[in-house]
Order: sequence, then structure tokens, then C-alpha cells
Amino acid sequence: MAPVNDGRPTAPRDAETAARPRRVFVETWGCQMNELDSRRFVGLMSREGWLESSSADDADLVLLNTCSVRDKAEQKVYDYLGRVALLKKSRPGLRLGVCGCVAQQEGEEILRRSPAVDFVLGTGRIELLPAVVRRVEREGDRPVEVGFDLDEVAYTPGVVARTIAHRASITVIEGCNKHCTFCVVPTTRGRERSRRFSEVVEECRRLVGEGVVEIELLGQTVNAYSDPESGAGLAELLRAISSIAGLRRLRFVTSHPRNFGDDLIAAMAECEPVCPSLHLPFQSGSDSVLRRMKRQYTRAEYVDLAGRLRSAVPGLSLSTDIIVGFPGESEEDFASTIRLLDEVRFGAVFCFVYSPRPSTAAARWDADVPARVAQERLARLNDHQQELQLQANEAMVGQVLEVLVEGPDRTGKRVSGRSPFNHLVHIENAPGTPAGSFVQTRIEQGLANSLLGRALRIERAEPDGPSLPA
Ligand code: SAH
Ligand code: F3S
Repeated sequence: MAPVNDGRPTAPRDAETAARPRRVFVETWGCQMNELDSRRFVGLMSREGWLESSSADDADLVLLNTCSVRDKAEQKVYDYLGRVALLKKSRPGLRLGVCGCVAQQEGEEILRRSPAVDFVLGTGRIELLPAVVRRVEREGDRPVEVGFDLDEVAYTPGVVARTIAHRASITVIEGCNKHCTFCVVPTTRGRERSRRFSEVVEECRRLVGEGVVEIELLGQTVNAYSDPESGAGLAELLRAISSIAGLRRLRFVTSHPRNFGDDLIAAMAECEPVCPSLHLPFQSGSDSVLRRMKRQYTRAEYVDLAGRLRSAVPGLSLSTDIIVGFPGESEEDFASTIRLLDEVRFGAVFCFVYSPRPSTAAARWDADVPARVAQERLARLNDHQQELQLQANEAMVGQVLEVLVEGPDRTGKRVSGRSPFNHLVHIENAPGTPAGSFVQTRIEQGLANSLLGRALRIERAEPDGPSLPA
């Protein structure tokens, strides 16, 4: 007879179901930090004997790791939630948790709005996941855990279930103390908390020992990093990590222009593994918009910083974020943003239409740029940038770049990977080269979003790549 779910806490499972390892599926939206947090969720559950599932359909636990940076992102979460709620109707044993930034922002409200949700877990409470799942199962609670510890980062090193053997991301600082008037991140991620320097370096050393050749340090304002014990900053951290033998590439994201000191520029220039590419959002090319955004720098200061970086780090490739349609953005303000693209020449640009967010200062202002105008500015900006990228990439023809292979590309016939400058490079004549290999590649064609080239010399990674820890 089929078991009937009468809404009471789950009874102890019978021998048959208990023998089958349970499965967790995580759906992730948003930034690299969310991607990493999802791998932490899987790592935490696998310690409890759970396996990862590749789809919600055969999972016992579905986690939605959510993003609320723009309204569209948040809407996608609620659409998906509706679909999982339907799935739950046919499989009452399925548990559903909402995590990440929407969880942090909405808290209890999610339980009210969606009866199918079993628990809500905020960005500062990731480590509580196994305990929260147990509470749901044993006590039939619907827990809401959304606090932040004020100074500590609760982060168990080594608990990240990695999917790529040769590359790893690690969080070095959580939260953000800036108050850009459009941004919800300080609410959803809390105040800045840096991880201990020695712990970060130790984690990097362990990762390199496991075969990792590229490490990316993460933080909402990664260059505000400050060791809670010694006060050492990101420059010193880059130097310490760069000295780990076997580490080939080191990146860090996202930097705020305001926190970019000369010591950090010098560390970028001097540390061999630090890649000559940098994500440095400028948001707008107009001083009056920057002031209203509370970005804490002027257009001229940004351009000056980009110039100093480029003279210290030859060939440095910059990428950036831009918002169009911010309240009060005039056609002249927007034109000034376009001119900045011409002046600075970015390798990649991520452009967004302004989206008012709850509890931000700008949300109270008149959103006076009509959606149609904002969309049109977005399209103009992207078109313009595509042209600049095409020119820049065509100029790469004939150069030799070292490509770290990520795997076969969409055609399946070529492998692709990234140059130190973060170009996406497709390699025509090296099919089957394993991920993690370094390939000296002569560039033969430049497209707007990628380069095509031929392998000159291959430094092969182990055929199966370095092994991932169990
Ligand atoms: N900490 C990073 C990233 C913040 S969110 C930084 O300092 O830039 C990532 C990007 O999303 C931002 O750089 C910004 O361009 C965009 N963004 C943030 N809030 C937004 C909003 N309300 N509307 C549109 N875009 C937004
Ligand atoms: Fe957001 Fe500004 Fe911080 S964009 S993450 S408040 S630096």
C-alpha cells in the first residue's frame, strides 16, 4: 500500500528507502559567489552521505540558490518555485529549500507566499544546512535561518564539492560596506567580513596540492580584503598565494575602483601567476550619475586608475559592469558612458538595465527613464561594444597566447579555454586535449566574442585530469 502523507513529520524510513543514498539537487542563479555557495551546499550534504542529483526529478532535496540583484532574476526564482511546488504534489517526500539572496531578503515571507517551501536559509547561514534539513525531517519544522555573524565568516575549508579539477574559486571576503544607491547586495550579503589570511593561504596550498592550477579569489568588494588578525590586505594575500609552487594562474573578482591602492597595482605587476585581466565595474561614465549612485569616484579618477594599471601591467585586459536607465540618466549622461568605452577599451562589458530593488535608496526616486529608452540604450551600448571587441580581437591575429583548456567547445570538434587576458579561445587542431592542459596557441582569427587559433605546443594535463577529492 502506498504511504499516505498526512502532514505529520516524516516517520523513520523503511529499510529499502534507507539503503538508497538520498540525493540533493541545487539550482543556482546569480554571481560566482552563489555558484560557489552551491558547491558548498553539495559538499556539506555529501558529508552526511547524500549524493548530488543532476535534476530535480529524482532528488529528495531541491535547493534554490537565488539571486535578487535585479527584479528579473528574482522573478525567475518564483517561476521555478512554482514548478518545483507542482513536482512536490506528486512526490510528497521531496523537500524544498530556498537559499541565497532572495532567502536573505524575504525570509518568512517566502513561507507565507509558497506553502511548498520547507525551509529558508540565508547567505550567512550556509553551514547550518544539514542541521536545518534534519529539523525539517525529524521535527516537521519550517525553519527560517537568515542571520549574519557580525565579524566571523562561517566557512569550513575543504567542504566545497568541486566539479572542475584544475580550477577553483574561494571566498576571501563576504558582504559589502559600500552603499551604492541601486544595490541590494549589502542587505543580502551583510557587512564585510574577511577570512583569516593563514586559512586562505592554507586552503590555496591544499588546492594546488590536489592539482588545481588556477585559483580565483571571490568577494563582492574583493579588494577591501583585510586579515582580521593582522590587517594585511589583498596585495599581501596575492603575494603569499603566488609563492605556492605549482600555481599557474591567480585571479580575483570583483574589485571596487575606490579600494585600488598602489600596493595592489604593484602586486599585480610583480606576481607571476596573477593574470593580466581585471574586472573593474564603473557603472556610468557620467559624474552626476556616479554621484547619485554613491560610487565614490569620478569618471576622471576611474580613467586615471585604468591608465596606471595598464602602465604597470602590460596588455592588461579590463572588463566592467554598466547600468543604463538609472534615475535621472539623460541622453548626455549616456553618451558619456559610450565615450568611456572608446577611451578605456574593455575586453568585455556586462550591461544591465536599472532595476529598482527593495530597501535601496534609489528605489525611492522617480524611475524617470522609460523602459523603452533604457532598453534602447542597452542595445546601443552592446552594439558599440561588440564593434570595439571585434576590432580588438582582430588585432590579436598572429599573436601566441597560452590557453588553459577547459574542454570541448559547442561544436565538439575543437577544445576551448581562456588566455591569461581572459579571451575565450577555440583551438582548431587539438581535439581531445584534456581540460587543465596549457596550449601555446597562434591566433588566426578574431571574432567579437572569441578568438580562433592553432596549437603550437601542448603541455598536457593527466588524461583524466587531477583527481577530485572524494
Ligand atoms: N560587488 C560588485 C557586484 C555587485 S552586483 C560590484 O561592486 O560591482 C553585479 C552588478 O550588477 C553590478 O556591478 C551592477 O552593474 C549590477 N547591478 C546591481 N544592482 C543593480 C540594479 N538594481 N539594477 C541593475 N543592475 C544592477
Ligand atoms: Fe553593490 Fe556597490 Fe557593494 S555595487 S556589492 S553596494 S560596491
